[in-house]
Amino acid sequence: MTRKIFVTTALPYANANFHIGHIMEYTQADIWVRFQRMMGQEVHFVCADDAHGAPIMIAAEKAGKTPQQFVADIAAGRKAYLDGFHISFDNWHSTDGVENHQLSKDVYLALRREELIEVKTIEQFFDPEKAMFLPDRFIKGECPKCGAKDQYGDACEVCSAVYTPTELKNPFSVLTGATPVMKSSEHYFFKLSDPRCIAFLEQWTQTPGRLQGEVLNKIKEWFTKDDEGYGGLGDWDISRDAPYFGIEIPDAPGKYFYVWLDAPIGYLASLKNYCAKTGRDFDALMADESLEQVHFIGKDITYFHTLFWPAMLHFSGRKTPNHVFVHGFITVSGEKMSKSRGTGIDPLKYLGLGLNAEWLRYYIAAKLNAKVEDVDFNPDDFVARVNSDLVGKYINIASRAAGFLSKRFQGHLSADLGVEGRVLLDGLRAHQGTIAELYETREFGKALREVMMLADRVNEFVDQNKPWELVKQEGKDAVLHDVCSVCIEAFRVLSIYLKPVLPALVAQVEQFLKVEPMQFADAERAMGAHQIGAYEHLMQRVDAKLLDALFEAPAAPKVVPGGEDLAPEIKIDDFSKVDLRIARIVKAESVEGSDKLLRLTLDVGEGKTRNVFSGIKSAYTPEALEGKLTVMVANLAPRKMKFGLSEGMVLAASHADEKAHPGIFVLEPFPGAQPGMRVR
Ligand code: 2FM
Ligand code: ZN
Repeated sequence: MTRKIFVTTALPYANANFHIGHIMEYTQADIWVRFQRMMGQEVHFVCADDAHGAPIMIAAEKAGKTPQQFVADIAAGRKAYLDGFHISFDNWHSTDGVENHQLSKDVYLALRREELIEVKTIEQFFDPEKAMFLPDRFIKGECPKCGAKDQYGDACEVCSAVYTPTELKNPFSVLTGATPVMKSSEHYFFKLSDPRCIAFLEQWTQTPGRLQGEVLNKIKEWFTKDDEGYGGLGDWDISRDAPYFGIEIPDAPGKYFYVWLDAPIGYLASLKNYCAKTGRDFDALMADESLEQVHFIGKDITYFHTLFWPAMLHFSGRKTPNHVFVHGFITVSGEKMSKSRGTGIDPLKYLGLGLNAEWLRYYIAAKLNAKVEDVDFNPDDFVARVNSDLVGKYINIASRAAGFLSKRFQGHLSADLGVEGRVLLDGLRAHQGTIAELYETREFGKALREVMMLADRVNEFVDQNKPWELVKQEGKDAVLHDVCSVCIEAFRVLSIYLKPVLPALVAQVEQFLKVEPMQFADAERAMGAHQIGAYEHLMQRVDAKLLDALFEAPAAPKVVPGGEDLAPEIKIDDFSKVDLRIARIVKAESVEGSDKLLRLTLDVGEGKTRNVFSGIKSAYTPEALEGKLTVMVANLAPRKMKFGLSEGMVLAASHADEKAHPGIFVLEPFPGAQPGMRVR
C-alpha cells in the first residue's frame, strides 16, 4: 500500500540567509523524502519562512523597511540555496500568509473552548522610550553574580550564571539605552500543566517508535519536578503585547500570538497553501488516518516540537506528528557555529566557487545517523571521502567500462553477463532491502558504507578480469563484452542506491544509460540487452585548493559606498598601534575666529580631561554634543594649533567628495560603553 507522508523541516527565521546548519537539515530531510518517493510513496514536503516576532520587527525597523517587505526580501533569496543544493520542497510559504493567520486563530479558539487558555497578569521590563515590553534578549546590564558589564538578560557570557532580567544590575534597553521599568500586563497562557495535557503528553511521547531515545531522556527531565518542586510542565505564555509583528489574538485587542505559537502551525499553513495550488483537499488530507506527519528539526527546538506542538494539535482536535526526528548541530573543524553569527561555511560561497553541491550532500549523508549527534565538517576528511569513495570507487566503475562498450560494441549491453558476473550482480541486489531499511531509519552513513562496500566488490571484479588486457587478446570479445556489461549493470544498481543522496548526478546517469527515472525497485531487474549512450565524465575530484578558498576571509570590495578606494591592507599589529578610546564629551564650544572647529573637552577616564579641536562645526551645535560618548584616537602625538594644543582626534565619517556629498557623522558607541574603554 502506498504510504502518504507529510514531511517538514523547521521553518527558518526570515531575518537572515541560510547558513550551513540549514543546508544540513534540509539535506537530511531531502534524502529521506527522495528515498520515500523512490519507494513509490506519496510525499508532501513543505517548508516556509518563520516571519513573526520581535527580533524580525526590530531588524526591519533598523533596515528602514516594513516587516512584510523585510521578510519578502529574505524570502526572495531562498531559491538560490534550495535549487543549488537540490532540496526538493514541494512548497515554500510564509507564516505571515493568510492560511496561517486563519489556522492559528482556529487552533487558539479550539484550545479556549477546551478551557486550556488562562489569562494572568505578569510583570515585565518595559522600555519607556520605545513604549514596548522588552524580550530578554533586548535587555542588558551587569551580571548579578560576577559584575561583568554588558551581559544579556538571561545569562552571563563571562561566568555562565543564569538569571532573570530583573536580577541584572543597572539594566538598560538595548534598543534605546533607557533604563527599563517594571510594568504589568495581561498575558494569555496555554495550560500545559493541566492534568489532561500531562496525561496526553506522557502517552504521546512514550508511544514506542515515535521519538528517539535521547529525546525521550530529555523529555523525562522536563516532566520531572525536583525536590523543591521546581521544573515539571509549566503553563506556556503564548501572548505578546503590541507593538509586535505577528497574528492578533481574537477578542484581545493589542495582544498577539507569541511567534512560537504560530510558527509550527505554519507547517499546516504551507501544506494548505500547497493543496490549494495543486487542487488537493487539505481538510480531507489531514483527516486521513493513514497520513503520516513527520518533522525534521534541530535539537535546540525539541521542547517546542515534542511538548507544545503535539498538545496544541491534540487539544484542537487535530492529528499529531507520527515522528519528530531530531538532529544535532554541524560544527566546522570541531568549532561550534552560532545561530546568530552563522559562521562556518557560507553555502552560496561554496556554490560560487564551483564546489559541487552533491559532494556536500554526500559528505553530510556519510556522517549522518539516526541519533541526535553533532556532525563535523572537516575539510581534509571531506576531500578524502569525496575523492576516494565517491569518485574513486563509484564513478570509477562506469569510467572503467563505458569506453570499451561504446568503442567495441556500439553501446550494446550483453544479455548473458557470464556466471561470475551474474553472481556479483545478485549479491548487489541482495542488499537492496538492507539499504532501503537504512534509509528508512535515517542511518545514511551506514547506507553509504554498505554501498561503498559493494562498489569495492565491483572494482575487485574489474581488477580480476582486467578488461584492458581482454581488449588486446584474440577471441576474448564475448568475455570483454560480459565484463563491461556487468560493470554497467552494477553501476546502475549502485546509482539507484545512491540516488536519494545524489539526485542530479543520477539524473545524468539515467541519460547516459538511456533509462527512465529509476525507482528503488528497479534494482531488482536487469537492463538486459539494452543500448546505452556515450559516456561523458560524470564527476570531478575535489581540488583541495577550492576548500582553502572556501575558508578564506572574503576579499574586501575595492570601491566602497563612500566613493573612496580602500587603503592598502594592514596587519592586526598595524591596527593595534592606534589606541582608540571611548570619550565623553564633557564640554563643546565654538572657537573664536574659526568657522570649522569646535573645542571639545573630553573625559577619557584618565582622571583629567583633554582638549581636542575638531572640524565638525558645520554639522553639530555644541549643545548637541555635550554629554555624549564618542570614539577618539588617544595616542596621537599632541599637535599645536593656532587656537591651542589638540590632544587627540575624534572619529567621524564623511564622503570622499565632501562638496558633492556633504555631511559629517561623529561616531557614537552602543549603550553601555564607558569613558576610557579601548576600542579594538
Ligand atoms: O529555531 C528556529 O529557527 C525557528 N524559526 C524554528 C521554527 S520551527 C516551526 F515551529 F516553525
Ligand atoms: Zn557573570
